[in-house]
Amino acid sequence: MASTLTVGLILAACSASDGAVGVVESELVLGSTTTTTTTTTTTSAATTIPPTSVVETTVPTETVPGETVGDEARSEPSVGVGDELFPELGSLDVDVLSYDVALTVMDGVDDGTIQATVGIEATVDPSVSVLALDAVDLDIAAVTIDGVEADFTTADNELLVDLPVARDLTVSASIDYRFTPQNRRSDVGLPVGWLPSDGRSYVLNEPDGGRTWLPSNDHPSDKASWTFQLTVPDDRIAAANGELVQEGGAGEAWIWRQDEPMSTYLVQVIVGDYDIIESEPVVGAAGTPIPITNVVPAGRGDDFADAIATIEEQILFFEERFGPYPLDRYGLAFVDDLSGLAMETQGRSMLGADDFEDRRLGYFQQLLLAHELAHQWFGNAVSPDVWSDLWLNESFASYAQWLWLDSIDLQPLDSYSQQMLLQRQRSADATGDPGLTNLFGFERYDGGAVVVHALRLTMGDDAFFEMLSTWVADNDGTARGTDDFIALAEEAHGSDLTEFFDDWLYAEGLPDAYPT
Ligand code: ARG
Ligand code: ZN
Repeated sequence: MASTLTVGLILAACSASDGAVGVVESELVLGSTTTTTTTTTTTSAATTIPPTSVVETTVPTETVPGETVGDEARSEPSVGVGDELFPELGSLDVDVLSYDVALTVMDGVDDGTIQATVGIEATVDPSVSVLALDAVDLDIAAVTIDGVEADFTTADNELLVDLPVARDLTVSASIDYRFTPQNRRSDVGLPVGWLPSDGRSYVLNEPDGGRTWLPSNDHPSDKASWTFQLTVPDDRIAAANGELVQEGGAGEAWIWRQDEPMSTYLVQVIVGDYDIIESEPVVGAAGTPIPITNVVPAGRGDDFADAIATIEEQILFFEERFGPYPLDRYGLAFVDDLSGLAMETQGRSMLGADDFEDRRLGYFQQLLLAHELAHQWFGNAVSPDVWSDLWLNESFASYAQWLWLDSIDLQPLDSYSQQMLLQRQRSADATGDPGLTNLFGFERYDGGAVVVHALRLTMGDDAFFEMLSTWVADNDGTARGTDDFIALAEEAHGSDLTEFFDDWLYAEGLPDAYPT
């Protein structure tokens, strides 16, 4: 019964979201357009699209010392980083260093249009003359590159900006645009994007919703630092990832800064009638107090105090198993209209206020709190290289949740892991080889925690937990793939694990019993 909860909660959220509004956007089906068919010259799995705008073809005659580019053969931008499940997402040419997201959310809190400017500092491959960003249904008014107005076009879920012939390796783009919050759904079947609700709003980007409200290199492999400047009506607050550096009000923006590297899918933006509550910092293994910043429905701090109080105990519990808390802050955001779903937005998990309504911290609440916190190690500090690596997020967060629920006597690890193995044997989908529509399905969650448990039994506790701590410590701030994980596991185990991963991670049907 309990086994289906995590998947069930996600499905519940889809229907709740759609039901609330009664429509699913049909003019836009994310991730299913035509750019993948026109491959011409790339050698990687990424696709190339022909320039659709006027591109400067003059061979530059002057070069500037240092990083200046422009004297090399200029080629078409690559669209997509070669992610099998999402061929459109990201660009191999682009490495974003920072996003400065300025939003004016006046009408848009309800259903109007949101006015935005995003500043993007990025290195762009010297050989390309076009900056390709992911952008879906954005109404783009103007783009500048290094302060100078630039030509641009939009097509096939991309924004293509002409770059000057002679430029530095690092370019500074500024994009003025507008968008309208909508109930959208990703091809994976989940609600994504800037979800409108009555007087409140929040974003849910995972996996490919970021590009529906933010022009960006919308792939988990590209991490950047972030600043958010959010101007909202005086009776609302605005929260985003990171540290609050300026409280808004009277026309002033709420400014939040997230210096630690973060992928687009982990962005948090919340607007509404909320209170921001700083609770007691947690002193973890590293010794430096971890600031805890929470967001709760206005005037209802007491309702969420017990949930917030679990943070310390859970951080200490996971630190013993996975190493020091890897980020510089944490907290919980309880938002309206997010029933049955949660998201590990970096440094502050987002939960549905309704799920914590009666102050009771039962099985489901403990599950959510542990799961989202564990993602800060698995997914946020170390992010997936491509979306097929999602088990590195969800199977480990689910396993962490098993460990926590076992420790508070709500779900015995032995019997539950057996039960999940049985259920997993009946499903016909390999944990390490997901498709699009079942990406967030059982085989990545409880069904993938079965694989993690089997690995623990194969390696032994010492090597297994040591390996997990090393994984996070060595790869913090980066994106890594399943092959990297397997290499580390083999190193920690001291021998080849090909057979193990073939049998457990890549097989559709699993062995009858756990390794002994
Ligand atoms: N990563 C989330 C979790 O497992 C699920 C997010 C699903 N994405 C979405 N757009 N609803 O906690
Ligand atoms: Zn998760």
